[in-house]
Amino acid sequence: MTHTPLQGFPTLADLERVAAERVPDRVWAYIQTGAGEERSLEANRAAFRRWSLRPRVLSDVTSVDLRSRILGREVDAPLFVAPMAYQREVHPEGEEGVARAAEDARVLSIFSTLSSASLEEIARAAPSGPRWFQLYLQPEFARSRELVERAERSGYSALVLTVDVPVLGVRDRQEAGGFAIDASVPTGNGPGVVPPARAPSFRGPTYELPANAAANWGILDDLRSISRLPVILKGILSLEDARRAARHSMEGIVVSNHGGRQLDGAAASLDALPAIAEEVGSTLEVYVDGGVRRASDVLIALALGAKAVGLGRPILWALAVGGGEGVREYLSSLSRDLATAMALTGRRQIAEIDRTLVQRIP
Ligand code: GLV
Repeated sequence: MTHTPLQGFPTLADLERVAAERVPDRVWAYIQTGAGEERSLEANRAAFRRWSLRPRVLSDVTSVDLRSRILGREVDAPLFVAPMAYQREVHPEGEEGVARAAEDARVLSIFSTLSSASLEEIARAAPSGPRWFQLYLQPEFARSRELVERAERSGYSALVLTVDVPVLGVRDRQEAGGFAIDASVPTGNGPGVVPPARAPSFRGPTYELPANAAANWGILDDLRSISRLPVILKGILSLEDARRAARHSMEGIVVSNHGGRQLDGAAASLDALPAIAEEVGSTLEVYVDGGVRRASDVLIALALGAKAVGLGRPILWALAVGGGEGVREYLSSLSRDLATAMALTGRRQIAEIDRTLVQRIP
């Protein structure tokens, strides 16, 4: 049996526990915490527990195929690595390790504007992708444009515009830990990259936010005018916004509460998913992230209409424990877990996962 970095930590609980020992406390606080009282962070996990699976039997599951298509591109599993900032803080291999692992697993990965490695370094590490670029709008559109053009030149095949951060959420535990997003944390994409503001400033009777908070739906036309890449909106939780994204001809949306890190009290991503997928899922691709840990979670999210399911914190735990190799191992064990769960539910292909696979626990 070959040694793998995750050996000895075979369960996800172990992975989280060991990761906690490997990363500095301040980084751990950054990764793990959510906004405010962490109601939305907890809600993401709790939402999965309100659904159970309805297995079908005697379905000849000698061959189980996880392959699916995301925006037309074939991937080996309907999963994606969610965009997460500052990955070299977690492990020296950082985003490049994650990118290589996802490329090897033929799984989509999305990289943040606030990556520790530059988007070009990430692209060189995993040239064949598939890779998407997450954009935080910059105070000046010219700066956003530069990032978009660089991403396009480096072979990123879609733009993921994060729309739930006009300002960062209030992350009490993170601030207490001493590591939080601000301009003092170096990013790989250049000193000119401005992170979202941590708080509004009080100016007389109103609270003022930086220029990126001025964005409205018109920004989508601006993005279209500078890039031919498909645009995905990340951070949609309402039917109204989902419909509007469809009217603006977005290629996809990520139903997400930003890992519970933005608006405390916002709906769990999974709770928002079914109605949105039902309404706009035939017009654009609907993805979801938040609280996904295991194959059963993936099945529930797919059954409720997600085209692909994002992984956040577990990727960082695996990175902390084993670098890129750890992420590779995690993705392969999750895929194996998913193939097992499909066999046990009598599904041979991703296309056979439908609403009848789940029931709401009364
Ligand atoms: C970045 O997007 C974060 O949530 O910390």
